[in-house]
Amino acid sequence: MTIPQLIALEKKRQRETLMMIPSENYTYSEVRRAIGSVLMHKYSEGYAHRRYYQGNEIIDKIEDLAVENAKKLFRVPYANVQPYSGSPANAAVYFALLNSGDKIMGLKLSGGGHLTHGHPNITFSGKYFQSVQYDVEPDGRIDYDKLERLVKIENPKLIVAGTTAYPRILDWKKFAKIADSVGAILMADIAHIAGLVAGGVHPSPVPYVHVATTTTHKTLRGPRGAMILVTKKGLKLDEKMGEKIDKAVFPGLQGGPHNNTTAGIAIALEKASQKSFVQYGKAIVSNAKVLAEELIKRGFKLATGGTDNHLMVADARPFGIDGKTLAIALEKAGIIVNANTIPHDPNPPYRPSGIRLGTPAVTTRGMKEREMKQIAVLISTVAEKVGDPKIISQVNKKVKDLCKKFPVEE
Ligand SMILES: Cc1ncc(COP(=O)(O)O)c(C=O)c1O
Repeated sequence: MTIPQLIALEKKRQRETLMMIPSENYTYSEVRRAIGSVLMHKYSEGYAHRRYYQGNEIIDKIEDLAVENAKKLFRVPYANVQPYSGSPANAAVYFALLNSGDKIMGLKLSGGGHLTHGHPNITFSGKYFQSVQYDVEPDGRIDYDKLERLVKIENPKLIVAGTTAYPRILDWKKFAKIADSVGAILMADIAHIAGLVAGGVHPSPVPYVHVATTTTHKTLRGPRGAMILVTKKGLKLDEKMGEKIDKAVFPGLQGGPHNNTTAGIAIALEKASQKSFVQYGKAIVSNAKVLAEELIKRGFKLATGGTDNHLMVADARPFGIDGKTLAIALEKAGIIVNANTIPHDPNPPYRPSGIRLGTPAVTTRGMKEREMKQIAVLISTVAEKVGDPKIISQVNKKVKDLCKKFPVEE
């Protein structure tokens, strides 16, 4: 098959299934046009008005716009929009502000943190830095008193406050008090929740942290990319923090920025500053709350007992199955989620007990609480009848009907 044929098939798949992996979303057609534009032909090593290549007059304007939009939206004095994605953005912060071997502290992967938050042995963050990780409690929540005790013992140079599978509001004030008590740099990784922060449905970390990283393609609905934001507090701690981060991104870690992505980021940030984005953020969260309640009613056990944001982690074991089995059966039914560890999971990571699912992409399609109730029924039907192909195919038909009613923007 040719690549255009495969793209057409993937387009069909995305239209006819419920995209419920909480880190995924449908971007805007304007963003897709920018990504596929001639901007990708240009090399622009350096930063706007300080390039190593000629011919960047227009690219400079684009990068300026993206930086200004980021600063305005998140109310920060400094932004770098060049990181190729979330992992390099986190790497850039560590390389800018730490020396190799310095101690970092992030949330364990199994507790809802990300690989780049110090996962031991197999990631740069756990190999080139000394990593001590904190965990969630068996109920799935961060115990801030326990974290404070650990931080006082370990005295890390940098603490990461950010998550990839945590369904509750992060208490930035508490993180700041803990970090400040040992003079640690506090970094927020808002990759998952950036759109919720922009939409005002999750508190902003900006008044409390020194630096924040985010991807641009999850709840923000932009292209695959990332940004690093330095706050006033960050510049107060180190007036050169912005410059250090610029240098760590280029030439420290990357070469030429992806100008087509930069343009897409500028567009997404502009959209996220509009009033309608507040409605979108609210809808993501209210949809998630309804979905969580309905799943609980139908027998699922949710980490932390529910959600305050866009995602939830559901334990599949009440149905006598593990998360991987459920994720595979749901895929056959057209509901796309990922298998995920539950807090203190007794099962191994490749066959965890739960699934992680969220509402950003279905909310983008315009689905509301009524549809969330339907989806909860479909998910629990699959969980109850995992080995029954007839039921799975009946669910799949209902999924397709639902998807047809809520078309994806061309
Ligand atoms: C909290 C968090 N940080 C960083 C990343 C890494 O982003 P990327 O996959 O773009 O490297 C992710 C990705 O899921 C994430 O959830």
